[in-house]
Amino acid sequence: MINIRNLRINYGNETALENINLNILKNKTYAIIGPSGCGKTTLLYAMAGLIVPFEGKVLINGEEIRKIRRETAVILQNGGLLPWKTTWDNVSLGLEARKLDKSAVNRSVASILEELGILEHKDKYPSQLSGGQKQRAAIARSLVLEPDLLLMDEASSALDAINREHIQNLILRLYKKKTVTMVMVTHSIEEAVFLGQSIVIMERSSIKHIIENPYFGDEDIRFKQDYYNICSEVRKWLRGDDE
Ligand SMILES: Nc1ncnc2c1ncn2[C@@H]1O[C@H](COP(=O)(O)OP(=O)(O)OP(=O)(O)O)[C@@H](O)[C@H]1O
Ligand SMILES: [Mg+2]
Repeated sequence: MINIRNLRINYGNETALENINLNILKNKTYAIIGPSGCGKTTLLYAMAGLIVPFEGKVLINGEEIRKIRRETAVILQNGGLLPWKTTWDNVSLGLEARKLDKSAVNRSVASILEELGILEHKDKYPSQLSGGQKQRAAIARSLVLEPDLLLMDEASSALDAINREHIQNLILRLYKKKTVTMVMVTHSIEEAVFLGQSIVIMERSSIKHIIENPYFGDEDIRFKQDYYNICSEVRKWLRGDDE
């Protein structure tokens, strides 16, 4: 679905990414992990069409992207909810912009809020929601538009461990129900192994290694030894052989 060829991105005279080649297959999930400042967010933005390559290409379904596509949803770290709108209005905003009829909008919004377990908080403003509820509202806002590509930057990093696992379970369940390609940036090895069918390990400005994760999709994986084996493998690649 996404084809990244010889991508280079510079900020001024600093190279943020170079020599990036990556194929993202349709309806699979990818977790991007690597040290702070290695270029994960930059890579995600390039896939979103929010940053234009300095060299190389990002193709989606064969077409070079130069701006954000309508079918791409991006969830940024802060969720990007509008503080002056209720949960309901934040989620319905994008659909209303598509000029669908009111009752269809209402049905879709109610159903996604229900699915994410926040229907009872529909009249609250973002400041009145907990961190996990805010994150779920941000996910609802993206999914209600039925994207074919969901890009997430550290979607659960602001949450405590228990809440983070809840959100991860929820993301896995939603992924299984919808037809969507997911790419997520994370700094958590456990999250990468739980949510990534492919785990893309980065080092400064480039991709170091990709691990295929045969255990992806098993909700009980956290209780199994195989999970910890893959986590150790990721940890080993992140640490490098020279340290
Ligand atoms: N707008 C910008 N202008 C200049 N330099 C930038 C800009 N955005 C990012 N950079 C630099 O590019 C490099 C990659 O940044 P990026 O945000 O992609 O890293 P990251 O892997 O997402 O890091 P983190 O894990 O800390 O979020 C960093 O060295 C950063 O300082
Ligand atoms: Mg980042």
